[in-house]
Amino acid sequence: MKKREFIKRAGLVAALAGFGLTLESCSEDEEPAPTGGSGLTVDLSVSPFSRLKDPDSWLLHPDENILLVNVGGSISAFSSACTHSGCTRDWTFSGEFICGCHGSRFNTTGQVTNGPATSALARISVSREGDVLTLG
Ligand code: FES
Repeated sequence: MKKREFIKRAGLVAALAGFGLTLESCSEDEEPAPTGGSGLTVDLSVSPFSRLKDPDSWLLHPDENILLVNVGGSISAFSSACTHSGCTRDWTFSGEFICGCHGSRFNTTGQVTNGPATSALARISVSREGDVLTLG
């Protein structure tokens, strides 16, 4: 950040602070937040995604908040944001998705099978061409 830009931002931060507001950094070299799968591709020929080729396998995407499951050869995807309180990374799978935060369970179509959650996981569309999935 150049000196002039720093001074300009410092003045803006001071002004915002006077109103009880903060300024979030929006540097160009920051990575964007996960989008929930829009246009994201998954290559089933590389680890850890290759295990999704096996029927009844599942995966929490290592970098995105996305749950993937293979049911009978068809792969589905869901947002991993639990509809109860929003936990995103504490998932296990035993024929259905289990949120470790408070125990909600969701079947492989995303529907709630056991609360406290009351609404389904958000489905993410999946298209497949060979070993490449396109999500969203
Ligand atoms: S956040 Fe998933 S059960 Fe509460």
